[in-house]
Amino acid sequence: MDISIIGSGYVGLVTGACFADVGHNVICVDNDRKKVETLRSGKVPIYEPGLEEVIHRNVSAHRLRFTESTEDGVKHSQVVFIAVPTPPLANGSVDLTYIEKVAREIAAVLTEYRVIVDKSTVPVKTGEKVADTIRRYNKAGVDFDVVSNPEFLREGCAVNDLMNPDRIVIGANGDRALALMKKIYEPFMAPIMVTDINSAELIKHAANSFLALKISYINAISAICEASGADVEKVADGIGADKRIGRSFLNAGLGYGGSCFPKDLAAFIAISEQLGAPFTLLKEVQEINKTQRERFVKKIRDTLWVLKDKKIAIWGLTFKPDTDDVRSSVAIDVANDLLREGAVVQAYDPKGMARIEELKLCPGIEMKGSALEAVSDAEALILATEWNEFNNIDLDEVKKAMHTPIIFDGRNLFDPGTMTQLGFQYYGIGRAGG
Ligand code: UGA
Repeated sequence: MDISIIGSGYVGLVTGACFADVGHNVICVDNDRKKVETLRSGKVPIYEPGLEEVIHRNVSAHRLRFTESTEDGVKHSQVVFIAVPTPPLANGSVDLTYIEKVAREIAAVLTEYRVIVDKSTVPVKTGEKVADTIRRYNKAGVDFDVVSNPEFLREGCAVNDLMNPDRIVIGANGDRALALMKKIYEPFMAPIMVTDINSAELIKHAANSFLALKISYINAISAICEASGADVEKVADGIGADKRIGRSFLNAGLGYGGSCFPKDLAAFIAISEQLGAPFTLLKEVQEINKTQRERFVKKIRDTLWVLKDKKIAIWGLTFKPDTDDVRSSVAIDVANDLLREGAVVQAYDPKGMARIEELKLCPGIEMKGSALEAVSDAEALILATEWNEFNNIDLDEVKKAMHTPIIFDGRNLFDPGTMTQLGFQYYGIGRAGG
């Protein structure tokens, strides 16, 4: 199949690379000239495990190329995917200006039948709007179909998620478009679920909101565990063993962050209100997420007392491990909470530090070259993002380097018993000693 993908961000780039890897011819389009030049020169602008290799392999095999021209993409493909950003507006609703702009651009160059697929996360009924827009701006009245095909990949394991999805959701209103979509996904061996366009759009927001709800649910339980002396990990294992509940996304911690859950929850709340069916439960999910971080910072304050001028180390600043993405990272919020109270924050993250400095997200933070450097002379260590590197570190060395060996483990990475045996004062989330 000949495919073009408009927008070379996380979703567009990973989707394009993986489609090429299963044998399709893919053109990735982006209006950012610098990004296109970077990609053409063989460099990948984001850190995503395995992605660079897949891109190189498929560029060499001439199945993947990059362009700035929407016309080039639309002209040389049967199916055009839209994967541009849908950022939040101040009131939480979704800014759809990029989607609208791309719809107009496609309309301007559409000369024969194409399937236009929305992969970006969009409010229900966006497909209808995209179709209206293309119809309005395509003077020639060319036949086309709009399809919704939401993406469920997670950053940090995006290539694997895309190559081995649990399901593929295709929202289509016609057989011609559906047949082409099925052909694209034939090599993926995953169950294909066909729905109408509105349902497919809703599935994405409903899925992300449910996952965020699971996280807030276990975080609320973690507060009860701390108050009662129970262990949240054991509770999560116990409830997660019930197949109807499942163990995944029941890891208590500092709360969810990233470019998806916070934005998608706010959007889904706004959409539900606009539709006159307010989803108030999700407001509580947001509230628990905020409280979880506040409880954590309070625990640090209660333990260390005055934070002003205290050296505090933070390990991990990205919103989750295995990514360089620092958008809406709870770790950064914690760092800023401490900086506001006058603490001296010494941080280390394997991939996120350059971007934080570039975007000036943590003014005053001291970035260190290694995990051990970050804990030097520190009066406490905060584990904020559970990079594997921190799991393999020599904790005796850490203890020796610290001024006072106190650990606040915001992701329950370490075992409380082992930490206590090693001589640390250990505080986890929802666990004994927490
Ligand atoms: C999320 C969804 O998991 C994907 O299915 C979806 O495609 C994506 O959003 C999207 O809409 O594009 P992502 O944000 O990349 O993926 O990362 P997750 O692995 O879902 O983690 C999100 C946040 O939840 C992280 O801050 C993580 O630390 C936190 N989390 C996750 C927990 O606190 N506890 C858990 O048990 C799981």
